[in-house]
Amino acid sequence: MKTPSPDEINKIELDLLLEAVYKGYGFDFRNYSKAHILRRLTYFQNVNGLQSFSQVQDLILHNKSKMKELLGELSIKVTEMFRDPAFYLTLRKRVIPLLKTYPFPKIWIAGCSTGEEVYSMAILLREEGLLKRTQIFATDFNEKAIEKAKKGVYSIDKIKHYTVNYQKAGGKNSFSDYYRVIDNRVEIDPGLRQNVQFALHNLVSDAKFETVNMISCRNVLIYFNKELQDRVINLFTDSLINGGYLVLGMKESLLFSSKSGLYKTIDNDRKIFQKKLLGEK
Ligand SMILES: C[S@@+](CC[C@H](N)C(=O)[O-])C[C@H]1O[C@@H](n2cnc3c(N)ncnc32)[C@H](O)[C@@H]1O
Repeated sequence: MKTPSPDEINKIELDLLLEAVYKGYGFDFRNYSKAHILRRLTYFQNVNGLQSFSQVQDLILHNKSKMKELLGELSIKVTEMFRDPAFYLTLRKRVIPLLKTYPFPKIWIAGCSTGEEVYSMAILLREEGLLKRTQIFATDFNEKAIEKAKKGVYSIDKIKHYTVNYQKAGGKNSFSDYYRVIDNRVEIDPGLRQNVQFALHNLVSDAKFETVNMISCRNVLIYFNKELQDRVINLFTDSLINGGYLVLGMKESLLFSSKSGLYKTIDNDRKIFQKKLLGEK
């Protein structure tokens, strides 16, 4: 019998830890990109002064608040308002005119993090005269992120950058019309979330959310392995009406997916896709 090498032991312990997280708490990270998971877990192990993933496993199984910390570590919340402004510019020109043809469009923003993407979308819809009749579902599996999203209060330090993004995204007004300053924070106009329903939803384990006209899932799939990306694209395909839009992050793609034939590309650089109509080639 041979002794497993340190690398083999590490891998076994990693798999067991992910299994424990799943069995103990229902969060399934087994199909997340291994490089991402390894980086985040190693960081968590080090800041907690632990020697191995087995020790991490022991800690989180017996300590729920440590599990919450780990969850925060595994979910990358990085986001900003009008992220990739050119995407919003294209959305305005190529997608919004079609959404306007529906009496009550529904949009699902999956993996919305702390809400900056949701408020960006709401601003764009308001400027296009569409906000009042659009229902937005904004979901994430991170409870803390959703709580922050509901409040819509952000650090003032970021406003300069967001203002530039907004202008590049084709913003029609002054960005300052959409927030008020309170000390060193800004509060986003609460009217923007009038038709927004924030909810917890896990793309890995939860079922279809709603039937919608557009899904925005940007900078989330990048953390998933191919198998999981495929599962999520299937979920989106089930959730979209025919002719509905799917928009992804700049580094993400539909091409690998078994469902890619069901979509046509509206703009490959901006990752905007449209589900074909029945019988459409
Ligand atoms: C990098 S942020 C992207 C935020 C925003 N969409 C954007 O583009 O700026 C990734 C988000 O995906 C969420 N996420 C990761 N795995 C998820 C899952 N299984 N179900 C739902 N949300 C998930 C994370 O909690 C995080 O808020």
